Amino acid sequence: MKRGYEESASTSFGPPQSRRKLDPQGDALFLEDDETTRNLARKVADHYSARTNQTLEEREASPIIHLKKLNNWIKSVLIHLYARRGDFVLDLACGKGGDLIKWDKAKIGYYVGIDIAEGSIEDCRTRYNGDADHHQRRKKFTFPARLICGDCFECRSRRKFLVRLDKVLEDDAPFDICSCQQFALHYSWSTETRARRALANVSALLRPGGIFIGTMPDANVIVKKLREVEGLAFGNSVYWIRFGEEYSEKKFRFSNPFGIKYNFHLEDAVDCPECIVPFHVFKLLADEYDLELVFVKNFHEFVDEYFKKPEFTELMRRLGALGDGNKDNSTLSQDEWDVAYLYLAFVLRKRGQPDRTHRNNDNRGNKGQMQISKGDIRYVSSED
Ligand SMILES: C[S@@+](CC[C@H](N)C(=O)[O-])C[C@H]1O[C@@H](n2cnc3c(N)ncnc32)[C@H](O)[C@@H]1O
Repeated sequence: MKRGYEESASTSFGPPQSRRKLDPQGDALFLEDDETTRNLARKVADHYSARTNQTLEEREASPIIHLKKLNNWIKSVLIHLYARRGDFVLDLACGKGGDLIKWDKAKIGYYVGIDIAEGSIEDCRTRYNGDADHHQRRKKFTFPARLICGDCFECRSRRKFLVRLDKVLEDDAPFDICSCQQFALHYSWSTETRARRALANVSALLRPGGIFIGTMPDANVIVKKLREVEGLAFGNSVYWIRFGEEYSEKKFRFSNPFGIKYNFHLEDAVDCPECIVPFHVFKLLADEYDLELVFVKNFHEFVDEYFKKPEFTELMRRLGALGDGNKDNSTLSQDEWDVAYLYLAFVLRKRGQPDRTHRNNDNRGNKGQMQISKGDIRYVSSED
């Protein structure tokens, strides 16, 4: 495995032209998303819904097993760094509940997971209940939970009315931590409206001083790689990225950094259209919603920094991304390590002073359950 990392910052994009401030509470200001955006969201939902749970053997045979383990290590480090005992956690795009065990280890007090893919939220439910027959090691989680199926960037009722996520979750908020892990946030970047809505949702649901952690593709690296190759596609044995002919000049409009699509294929994981998220635009936009940057690190830089810390070295050994240092000598391939370079981890903090009294007389989270039935899942449909 390559330990060093290439510089991650490049100036592929200029600043956004639109600096108008929108009222995060005012959904009247959020324009309708177009058909294309909704189709994209549906395509993503169908892709993830169709992905079935793997057995432990199937998972271990994956060509990107060490990359998956590395992702888990990065998410675990982020959770370890920021989650506190008793925290209320909102997991945006929670998928099949891949982080439930990590949250349990952090001894959180309450968990709300939302995902657009019905199949994934159902898998999350069975995993939470301990019914799953895959690599579920523990039977019971120690925190109550609630699951929602819907588009976390744009919840709409069956009659097309905008359903604000902060209203859906008003009995549960404010949250101490909001997490959007493993590459879901870029699905919000198809339009400025949608990107703003995603950040407005997070801001409205976090308490002052609350933390937003996440991982997503590193636009600077993707654009840099695109410019290094002759055509519009690049990749290796485990992934490829392809841009459309409209980007043949490899120039991106500084005036509109939204909706810049490419197709991404990652073996045994993703096969979807995705959108570039220029991080400095993300940072500026987040700032408008009172979310200030704590740090951003490309995955290579993240590994370089945290792998040196003994508690995280030990965690890496246990998760096995680099083998167990003992009998298991298997480790991340160069191609998997190259994929890791395509991603970054970020931490944002909601401005303001935490209200230390909110845990006393706390009725939040009273919708949570220790056993979730199918009927307990709230569906907030983005379709008619
Ligand atoms: C790679 S999975 C990550 C799942 C989980 N966060 C994890 O780390 O294991 C990406 C997830 O994002 C979800 N997703 C994509 N767009 C979404 C949206 N608009 N609203 C809610 N979930 C979304 C997908 O359904 C999928 O479960």
